[in-house]
Amino acid sequence: MCRHLLILLIFFSTLYANEPIQPLPKTITYDKGKALLGKKLYFDPILSKDNTVSCASCHNLELGGVDNLQFSIGIKGQKGIINTPTVLNSIFNFRQMWDGRAKTLTHQVKFPITNPKEMGNSFENIIKTLNKSTYYNKTFKALYKNGITKENIGDALEEFQKTLITPSSFDDFLRGDEKAITENQKKGYELFNKKGCVSCHNGINIGGGLYAQFGLTDESIANNLINQSTKNGYNPDFGLYNITKNDFDKFYFKVPTLRNVALTYPYLHNGRIKTLNEAISSIAKAQLGLDLSKEETFLIEEFLKSLSGKVTIIR
Ligand code: HEC
Ligand code: HEC
Repeated sequence: MCRHLLILLIFFSTLYANEPIQPLPKTITYDKGKALLGKKLYFDPILSKDNTVSCASCHNLELGGVDNLQFSIGIKGQKGIINTPTVLNSIFNFRQMWDGRAKTLTHQVKFPITNPKEMGNSFENIIKTLNKSTYYNKTFKALYKNGITKENIGDALEEFQKTLITPSSFDDFLRGDEKAITENQKKGYELFNKKGCVSCHNGINIGGGLYAQFGLTDESIANNLINQSTKNGYNPDFGLYNITKNDFDKFYFKVPTLRNVALTYPYLHNGRIKTLNEAISSIAKAQLGLDLSKEETFLIEEFLKSLSGKVTIIR
């Protein structure tokens, strides 16, 4: 009897300690001067080779941090090969990119800048151009001892991206405001937990904290993806495998955040799914082997809508 009570106590205390989803912190520390410099860089096509594409071209802050295209368009009208994820709240991801190849936001910046299909530039060239601008020359020197460097460009962009957090009605609910979300959203959240979505989509970002295999319970999905192979031995559908070259890691992706997911269509790393409703039902099948009813899918969709928040752009 006594032992059972103890086990029960341990069970509840771990439950409490490991609350699967946490609200966004109310404040976040960042360096205001560097963040403002990062903001300027973020919206400036100067980072691209031909001065036509900025970070904001693909990560539109008015559109949930994406461009709502299956594949974004880089310099010279070139189409990408993997769907653009949101930059909003990305500071809370354990790694960046679908395959997690960037450890930090600072590290991430070199990928779009040097990708020939995205910004197609080199840091050598960027540093030269930025040095010619009075604003950048002066501001970098004022904020960083060593002025304009690759690392400092990344750092300023990271400071700005730290400010891109989007508190939502669901955060108010998590903090105890029972009325912040609707009855249907509460039912949807209950299903989200009960059906097991939360085993992958958890933490502050309701995702972004671990890798998981896409098509875990429905291999036909993974098999369909194999046929999509791309040129030069690089297949974006292989996910983590592209970094580790370990067969076991094929189709493993960083679990995406579900914050603002109602805004960030189309879905999946390949942008193949157009609506949130369809994303929920096919992912339930692919990741949990579940056939959700129409009602369950609707309620989960209602819940996911409570994760749309507003970004306040610093000035
Ligand atoms: C031409 C479109 C394009 C441009 C320009 C672009 N990105 Fe991206 N961004 C993408 C795509 C596509 C990915 C996903 C790449 C992957 O996972 O392989 C991505 C991924 C990211 C991520 C990772 C998010 C996550 O959840 O993993 C961040 C952060 C990001 N970009 C920030 C930036 C910044 C900062 C700039 C400007 C320096 C920028 N991007 C420019 C298309 C773009
Ligand atoms: C085993 C881990 C796992 C479970 C369980 C899981 N997911 Fe996911 N989810 C993922 C991964 C991995 C992806 C990205 C797959 C891809 O793009 O190839 C994803 C993608 C998504 C997306 C698309 C997001 C985007 O930005 O493209 C939605 C929506 C989603 N999941 C909702 C759910 C719901 C609802 C459930 C429960 C019914 C669920 N997930 C259960 C791992 C999981």
